[in-house]
Amino acid sequence: MTLEETTMTFTELTADLETPGPDWRRTAVVYQIYPRSFADSNGDGIGDLPGITHRLPALAQLGIDAIWLSPFYKSPQVDAGYDVADYRDVDPVFGTLADFDAMLDKAHGLGLKVIVDLVPNHSSDEHEWFRQALAAAPGSLERERYMFRDGRGENGELPPNNWESCFRGPAWTRTTDADGTPGQWYLHLFDTKQPDWNWENPEVRAEFLDVLRFWLDRGVDGFRVDVAHALIKAPGLPDQQAAEKAADDAGNPEGFFNVGPMWDQDRVHEVYREWRALLDTYSPDRILCAEAWVPSLDRLARYVRDDEMHQAFNFDYLESEWDAAHLRSVIDKSVTANETVGAPTTWVLSNHDVVRHVSRLGLPAGPRPNGIRADDLQPDHELGLRRARAATLLMLALPGSAYMYQGEELGLPDHTALDDDLRQDPTWWRSQYTEAGRDGCRVPLPWEADEPGLGFGPGGATWLPQPTAYAELARDRQLEVEGSTLEMYRTALAFRRAFALAVGSIEWAPAATGVLQLVNGELTIAANTGSEPVPMPDGELLMSSVELDDHSVLPADTTVWLLTEVFNESQS
Ligand code: NOJ
Repeated sequence: MTLEETTMTFTELTADLETPGPDWRRTAVVYQIYPRSFADSNGDGIGDLPGITHRLPALAQLGIDAIWLSPFYKSPQVDAGYDVADYRDVDPVFGTLADFDAMLDKAHGLGLKVIVDLVPNHSSDEHEWFRQALAAAPGSLERERYMFRDGRGENGELPPNNWESCFRGPAWTRTTDADGTPGQWYLHLFDTKQPDWNWENPEVRAEFLDVLRFWLDRGVDGFRVDVAHALIKAPGLPDQQAAEKAADDAGNPEGFFNVGPMWDQDRVHEVYREWRALLDTYSPDRILCAEAWVPSLDRLARYVRDDEMHQAFNFDYLESEWDAAHLRSVIDKSVTANETVGAPTTWVLSNHDVVRHVSRLGLPAGPRPNGIRADDLQPDHELGLRRARAATLLMLALPGSAYMYQGEELGLPDHTALDDDLRQDPTWWRSQYTEAGRDGCRVPLPWEADEPGLGFGPGGATWLPQPTAYAELARDRQLEVEGSTLEMYRTALAFRRAFALAVGSIEWAPAATGVLQLVNGELTIAANTGSEPVPMPDGELLMSSVELDDHSVLPADTTVWLLTEVFNESQS
């Protein structure tokens, strides 16, 4: 097949996509749905499960393999659903269990796997067991399900240790006893309303095995495990040392990786071995994926040993600068670390906790901000989008699994001028209004440019306002429009499958400074992260992150996919 024929048969390539087999856990492109911002069916301005069901065909058309849904469980929504009050029910804001089943059926009918979010480190303070714990006495079985401790100081007036919440402020809150006097403290690594479970307690372990069974029996294909590195704390809950705290600090140029006695304890792996054993009693293609912000890829690989999870998010990749040397080093380290345990590597550029890569890459290099406010330095949108497209084409050419965050296929930036009064991320108030937090990347999606609320839902209500730039970027403005970001994603996903890039392996080719050049199967991939154009590598141009008039030059901030060799009919 020649390049011309390959391009001509693009429609067939995309039409002929098969449902992924058991190996999907090594190769899938997983699309993250953030339910409250994906699509709204009832006009309350908050996305919901019927909204997702309605829009699923658009995702199938995009060419992804699986969806991962952020939490939709019963919750007071203090941390947008990562504060679960009932692990076995759907919050009315998102619909009902029947709506979930309908969504699952539709997704499966379209050949899409469905991963749900599991939040095992903490519950909501409105969970029945936490209410019981508050009502019970210190030392009771009810309190043993959570992390209650006496305070330090003469009258227990000081928190049990110096741990801080990831959302800023202390990680301990003092309770009030029935007689109105101050009581014990409970631990919450996140918001006050997110008490940590006690994973030393067998009852908690049994309860979560049952929650897993509940969703597996309903037919889900697996779980994304929230803060997977936090469940077990160091014995005695020692203070976090100054050096650990410094390394754990969000302003740290090394990134957001967690260090200290509450993170990445060796015994946490017992939990995942038990979960894996349970999953293996179901059909052999269910998945566990760890969200673990641990400071090295070698530590991360421990979560994907062959009797634990199947995948772990590669946040080192998300954190890397748009810089060839840095990217190459992270790619090499990721592949090596995962190969030692026989696990696939994953890649990710955006999610609901970080500034979208279009906005991030439009800022000068440096530490990743936790949200961008109107008075902050604003990203250069044009540059950010150009680099984001180039970064995406590089990511989708790498072997393993790739995670996409809803809206990145439209090239959406963050809302960087959101009115501070509208912010809902607890980080905003817990940081004493110094860190914007994550609302900017969670804005409702634009579907149809001319509809109210850009087609997010009937009536036009949106729980956060959409920036004006979103109209231009609405899905209907990009679908089947040559050169649009949406079409770039569709084409790349189709070629990724057609050329089996996900199951391939990479070899580096010599390249100019600032350029990454690698070979994966029949394709040569070149990404120019520098500021000057360089000569185009050999090969026939298959696709490019920007339109190219001159095929002899690879411009700055551009990635290309080239056919290394033209293969003949008998091989096609
Ligand atoms: C990680 C989730 O991705 C984030 O959104 C959440 O706030 C924390 N875990 C706490 O559950």
